[in-house]
Amino acid sequence: MWPYNRGSSPSPISTPSPVLGDGQPAAHALRERVLDHDPPGERFFIDSVRHHERRVTDSEQRELIRAFVQQEGLHGRAHDRFNASYAKFGIDVRKQQRYADKVFRRLRRWLPWTIQLGITAFAEHLTAVGAHTLLDDDEATEKIDPQMLEFWRWHAAEELEHKSVAFDLFHKVGGGYMTRMLSVMVAVLTLAVPMLRITKGMMDDDPHVPTRRERKEAAAVQRRILRRQAPLLLAYLRPGFHPWQIDDTELLAGWYPSSEVAHAI
Ligand SMILES: [Fe+2]
Ligand SMILES: [Fe+2]
Repeated sequence: MWPYNRGSSPSPISTPSPVLGDGQPAAHALRERVLDHDPPGERFFIDSVRHHERRVTDSEQRELIRAFVQQEGLHGRAHDRFNASYAKFGIDVRKQQRYADKVFRRLRRWLPWTIQLGITAFAEHLTAVGAHTLLDDDEATEKIDPQMLEFWRWHAAEELEHKSVAFDLFHKVGGGYMTRMLSVMVAVLTLAVPMLRITKGMMDDDPHVPTRRERKEAAAVQRRILRRQAPLLLAYLRPGFHPWQIDDTELLAGWYPSSEVAHAI
């Protein structure tokens, strides 16, 4: 059981300066995309888990689900406040969020609940791989503002803590390998284009126009990160995969002493 009930995010979560325009367009794209998706995505994840919750009788698993819902709820609220500060930079996050909300509403309406939970399990894996990079790869994070990094690392640590909750629930309610792979395909087909569209929309709004050199540097950083992440990402396709086969306990143990919020548990 992890120390899930810390109940607060790092402060301050208002936008440190500069969030935008620090010469890392690729990093911006990634951050903006994740930031913008977070609240609508997290609400979708919570709903898909809560829908199946009543089928779980094991008290420890119920407690883990409760903790998952609590953590994702806090992330959504923290990111809502954080995203609001984008207005300062002339970026219309609300427009992007309305669009993301519409996408997730459609998924809720059209997809069977097992596939919705399968999408959540897959999204949690992608998030956990990103979280692994944030806590493990100093080179990838060296240009991020320290306050911003603290905020992101808090979120990353909590993502690692609860990374197997949706996956375990998915299997508990009868999801098997084929349904898990089908969920991956549905997630890619329904979410890849909206995510790219949102990223592009936010980058178009960004007052900083990256130079050629910045674009090249950013592309090189992205390639390097992707090369490191590829084996972790692809591991999800193995029939016998479980999230804790990627053991992040040491990364978490390293983060706890360094975080103000972790101390407050
Ligand atoms: Fe989250
Ligand atoms: Fe999560």
